[in-house]
Amino acid sequence: MKSRTASILSISFISMLFFFICGGKGLCQIAPKASNGIVIPDSLKTIFQNSCMPCHWQGGGIKSTLHVNFSKWDEYKPNAQAGKAKKICSALVDDKMPPAMAREKKPEIVLKNNQIDAICKWSASLPAESQPEENKPE
Ligand code: HEC
Repeated sequence: MKSRTASILSISFISMLFFFICGGKGLCQIAPKASNGIVIPDSLKTIFQNSCMPCHWQGGGIKSTLHVNFSKWDEYKPNAQAGKAKKICSALVDDKMPPAMAREKKPEIVLKNNQIDAICKWSASLPAESQPEENKPE
């Protein structure tokens, strides 16, 4: 009897843990870690999750995650984050992302103009990438 209670308890504890880590969506989101870096606003996170996964997430393509890996966003330095945000905006404005192949298979991942505007406004609000590493306050 005792061991049964214990296993029920541990199962509920583990599922609660998953719920907290993964937001109960069965899909781990970018952890809202406290960092002095740039935080992606939730509304944009949703767009990236819908349209840029699975390529730009951990376990996604090698080339795509080299450019942008949203699972590692918090590990990028603020300079790199700002630079990537600006690259994301240009890739979207130039209609390069999501790639044509992916659009054909899943037309619903193509971004709407207002979503691209919101992303570009956010990236434009970030500090310029050009700040040299050595002058950067840690
Ligand atoms: C089907 C997979 C796939 C999806 C979905 C996808 N990408 Fe990409 N992305 C790639 C690949 C592959 C590359 C690398 C292309 C290369 O190096 O030639 C890339 C490159 C990029 C780059 C770098 C481009 C450059 O010229 O510097 C950015 C920025 C980018 N993606 C942003 C996004 C954003 C934002 C989304 C969602 C709106 C997205 N991608 C969706 C596969 C994907």
